[in-house]
Amino acid sequence: MSTLQAEHVYKVFGRRPADSAAAVRALESGADRDELRADGTTAAVIDASFDVRPGQIFVVMGLSGSGKSTLLRMLNGLLEPTAGRILFGGQDLTALSAGELRHVRSTKISMVFQHFALFPHRNVLENAGYGLEVQGVPRPERERRAAEALALCGLEGWEKSWPDELSGGMQQRVGLARALATDAELLLMDESFSALDPLIRRDMQDQLLELQRTLKKTIVFITHDLNEAMRLGDGIAVMRDGRIVQQGTAEDILTRPADDYVASFIQDVDRSRVLTADAVMDDPEPAADACDCPTVTAGTPLAELCAVSARVPHAVAVTGADGAVIGSVPQDRLIAFIGDEQRPPMYCAEVAA
Ligand SMILES: Nc1ncnc2c1ncn2[C@@H]1O[C@H](COP(=O)(O)OP(=O)(O)OP(=O)(O)O)[C@@H](O)[C@H]1O
Ligand SMILES: [Mg+2]
Repeated sequence: MSTLQAEHVYKVFGRRPADSAAAVRALESGADRDELRADGTTAAVIDASFDVRPGQIFVVMGLSGSGKSTLLRMLNGLLEPTAGRILFGGQDLTALSAGELRHVRSTKISMVFQHFALFPHRNVLENAGYGLEVQGVPRPERERRAAEALALCGLEGWEKSWPDELSGGMQQRVGLARALATDAELLLMDESFSALDPLIRRDMQDQLLELQRTLKKTIVFITHDLNEAMRLGDGIAVMRDGRIVQQGTAEDILTRPADDYVASFIQDVDRSRVLTADAVMDDPEPAADACDCPTVTAGTPLAELCAVSARVPHAVAVTGADGAVIGSVPQDRLIAFIGDEQRPPMYCAEVAA
């Protein structure tokens, strides 16, 4: 399995290549997007660097126009960076010939788009096998692998249906099956769930997390929804005006936003469902092992921790993977964490309800 790395990647859209090179130099010395726009150049991605480890879901989030899709298109070689390198398994994508790049793209990388991009005149099985067809895989094997991928996505029995007989959520599952059928290591998902209504969207997020537990793909997932980013992402990069302004875990971003922009984003996030006991715990109380404190595991969401905490007058003990006590959470600390300046502190019983 391969690591995906971006090293100081820039993408500038300009009228002439010379303008783009000059724009990169200006950006390197601190110019921002607006300064370049006057000259008719758009700095879509500015100095993006990150590593995505094998098996990780790396979420890129940001408002419309922040450069997410441009970044993603550089990751699969559809767009060439104006400066910087993209390495996949140590191989520099920017140095490959067009033919080599096509090969990498068709065997190692799969894209799942926002709009399902299914072929209306092909049935579900044929749609799911499309990536394999492009690779020249013979029909019997193609059908077997497409059917397996459809089953993974909960679509067994729908193979012979036409796309327009499926709901939006099911069509998106076919899109996901198509990406999984090729056995690509790297899945690039651009706003893949954004067109779905909220309940189906949540369902798809659960399904992706469930699939990921066994398949362990490397996934770059783009979204403008911070709640989605926090649910899915092992690592999150927040983009603003072409730059990555913060990278970290959901907990890092919620507890230590890098600037006012990120802070304004996280205002509406339900902290009680994202943060877990280990994010708020204090050192263990000296007598924690001896007292009959209720215990929760380190990964317990605060909403559940509140329900436990509300039942006792003292702290709740937090246990690690081996069951030993690694911390404690007094009730006042829990309440302080869930509240913030923008909202009055909530009380545990309310959160738990
Ligand atoms: N081919 C292109 N030519 C010129 N400018 C472009 C091109 N593609 C993107 N841009 C510009 O680059 C910037 C980033 O666009 P991009 O599509 O990457 O944003 P995004 O974060 O994916 O937005 P959205 O959430 O709306 O999909 C925008 O200002 C856009 O207008
Ligand atoms: Mg986009």
